[in-house]
Amino acid sequence: MLSEKSTRTIRATLPAVGAAIDEIAAVFYTKLFAAHPELERDLFNRGNQANGAQRQALAGSVAAFASALIEHPDVRPDTMLTRIAHKHASLGITRDQYEIVRTHLFAAIADVLGEAVTDEVAAA
Ligand code: HEM
Repeated sequence: MLSEKSTRTIRATLPAVGAAIDEIAAVFYTKLFAAHPELERDLFNRGNQANGAQRQALAGSVAAFASALIEHPDVRPDTMLTRIAHKHASLGITRDQYEIVRTHLFAAIADVLGEAVTDEVAAA
């Protein structure tokens, strides 16, 4: 599931990502909603978005996914993926919205961690 090289890279960089996850989440949502106000208005503003906990769910789950892959590189974390997939299917999230989220999440990680995020680190 994860190559040996990427496992090494992620193992080395995950502590820095984890330590900065609150800031990454804040920058991510600022960027996302600046570029796509309709997502804030029509999608995120419902339900749990008003409380801070949900803001961290996405970035936090990416870090949790990375941790699971490092601990068990050959095992796909299906339980976690299934729960998240059901949630997003029920919200009606579309393929292009995943691209949007990826763009702004990686931009937020690069902004917060700066030069530490080389091309190799981003790819891993
Ligand atoms: C790899 C991509 C993504 C991951 C890992 C992820 C992760 C999560 C997690 C863990 C939650 C909390 C789920 C729960 O409460 O059980 C969540 C909620 C949510 N996600 Fe995502 N997400 C992703 C992509 C997206 C995309 C592309 C959108 C739409 C643009 C989106 C919109 C939402 C919304 C609106 C909620 C809040 C639902 C609610 O609590 O009312 N997510 N996400």
